[in-house]
Amino acid sequence: MNRSLLLKLVTILVGILMNTNQSVCAASANSITVTPFGKTSSGREVDLYTLENKQGMKVSIMTYGATVVDVIVPDRNGNLGDVSLGFDTFQPYLTKSPYFGAIVGRYGNRIANGRFTLDGKTYQLATNDGPNHLHGGVKGFDKRLWTAEIVRSSSNSVRFTLVSPNGQEGYPGTLHLAVTYTLTDDNALKISYEATTDAPTIVNVTNHTYFNLAGAGNGSILGHELKLGAAHFTPVNSVLIPTGEIKSVKGTPMDFRKPELIGKRIKEVGGNPIGYDHNWVLDKKLLPGLKSAAEVYEPTTGRVMEVLTDQPGIQFYSGNFLDGTIKGKGGKVYDQYDGFCLETQHFPDSPNEPGFPSTVLRPGEVFKSTTIYRFSIR
Ligand code: GLA
Repeated sequence: MNRSLLLKLVTILVGILMNTNQSVCAASANSITVTPFGKTSSGREVDLYTLENKQGMKVSIMTYGATVVDVIVPDRNGNLGDVSLGFDTFQPYLTKSPYFGAIVGRYGNRIANGRFTLDGKTYQLATNDGPNHLHGGVKGFDKRLWTAEIVRSSSNSVRFTLVSPNGQEGYPGTLHLAVTYTLTDDNALKISYEATTDAPTIVNVTNHTYFNLAGAGNGSILGHELKLGAAHFTPVNSVLIPTGEIKSVKGTPMDFRKPELIGKRIKEVGGNPIGYDHNWVLDKKLLPGLKSAAEVYEPTTGRVMEVLTDQPGIQFYSGNFLDGTIKGKGGKVYDQYDGFCLETQHFPDSPNEPGFPSTVLRPGEVFKSTTIYRFSIR
């Protein structure tokens, strides 16, 4: 039996299994479909898993990079639109994607000079961002082929797993990582991370989806309204490495405690290129668990995206490096500020900052984390 026939058969079987799991009165059921999406440079097949919920929201994730390829949600008139930047086909993901939708790690964001010391031993990681290590190095988790499996015990989940051997990109310890994407019926995309190691290491994994709530390729995000649950941020030097300071947002363009237009004070942020590319320190709540980290509202479509997480920080990146050279979905050009990322995370360069929460994972421990992107309309 050929491969695409087999995939179709899997899809039909999953549909049948899922329907029997659901209440009989459900008008339209959840479904998961699997389709071939392309081939890596070494000829390995890449599959695309599409989750759909009862409201018609759809999220597609591919096995390369465990990458979110599409996020299709309704606007206030019920029209569905894709709010995530990316490509229609697989090939450009191999050659020109600035981490569109991908899982980044083993350490998301930057480590100064790609160097850190753990238990008295200094490790040199791959450097791929000037002198620094960014998003896991030259071939991070975003450029690896993951194994996918539909989660039987859930109504709409796919679990992606990856083994990152000891020494890969310079990291100590073999890391086993699982990332589970779940699409719920209240239009939330839940991302759960779980990791273990066989030797002490550092871990900071996140998802790097670029959103534009007016629809990918439909202009700039400067007119989106952003609210962040953070009274502090971590200032950076000229190459975006935190200085170690935890600074109040008060009186600065980093103050999003009340909803503000992203574009309102962006020019004052500085940087090269100018814009937001910083980590905010999420306010601690008395109760442990998920906190509301961010909320974004797009006035023309009425779309709202809320971000909930158990992580201590969030990187708000305003798409500063997009420069019009990438043609994305539907042939639309992505210019500067045409997408934003809200990457829930530990603070950048934590391994070199004793004052930041630790990112060390030791044998016997299980790293667990959850982030939810929930969509609604206003
Ligand atoms: C992250 C970084 C940015 C940039 C983008 C990818 O958000 O913080 O500086 O590297 O990824 O272009």
